[in-house]
Amino acid sequence: MENSLSPASITNNLKTRLVGQRVTYYPTLTSTMDVARQEAQQRAAEGTVVIVGEQTAGKGRIKRTWLSPKGNLALSIILYPNVAHLPSLIMLASLALVHSIETVTGLKSQVKWPNDVLVNGRKVCGILIESQVRGNTVDYAIIGIGVNVNLKTADFPEIHPTATSLSDELGREIPLLDIIQQVLVEIERLYLVLLAGESIYEEWRDNLVTLGREVQVTSGEAMYTGVAESVARDGSLLLRHRDGSLTKIVAGDATLRDDK
Ligand code: BTN
Repeated sequence: MENSLSPASITNNLKTRLVGQRVTYYPTLTSTMDVARQEAQQRAAEGTVVIVGEQTAGKGRIKRTWLSPKGNLALSIILYPNVAHLPSLIMLASLALVHSIETVTGLKSQVKWPNDVLVNGRKVCGILIESQVRGNTVDYAIIGIGVNVNLKTADFPEIHPTATSLSDELGREIPLLDIIQQVLVEIERLYLVLLAGESIYEEWRDNLVTLGREVQVTSGEAMYTGVAESVARDGSLLLRHRDGSLTKIVAGDATLRDDK
């Protein structure tokens, strides 16, 4: 299958006005986040996409590493939202992935709070959001997206127990370009919804697999267990403990404890 990428192959016929109208492509990079940050600091056009064939030091959330060999999708998108929209970016990115995966492959996926995308209970996408904010001004926000597209997860024991890929799920290779273009279209669509003053919170909440489940959440040095009762409009998780008390967790990583 032809999976070679170029800026022109991505922008040709791309049905967006903003996101992906400027693309910088690298066959290999340490991390698209590093290049996107440099570009954002120089005020690259909003919607600029930094995309890579293969990352050698992909970054995950909470200082984890992210595996992104050739055949996977790894890109970063530069946006200049206002500060009120910042908490919605995790919702925007995870919903964009849920929609894109379904459109291109027919697979249903779900969101594990805050923004992991799972297919059949296993992680298929990771999202990393970085922003620089001064007072009430957002200098820039970068949405980093990694999708296991054509990855034989069985070849990677370090992620195999908890991860999957689109090709693992479907038993065939997936055209990488289709996924990339659809993700860019969906990111733009949802970003325009936000800019129009509408909310994407309800849709994100309704796609969360986490709610009503018993979870263990690490947040910084703290670890909590309880039932994920709801999410607030700012994206925080509301965790109900056995003793009836409630903790609001702004950022963290959840493990579903009742997974088989
Ligand atoms: C996570 O689930 O921990 C987030 C993973 C985010 C990975 C993507 S791949 C593109 C971008 N560049 C990076 O180095 N990381 C993000």
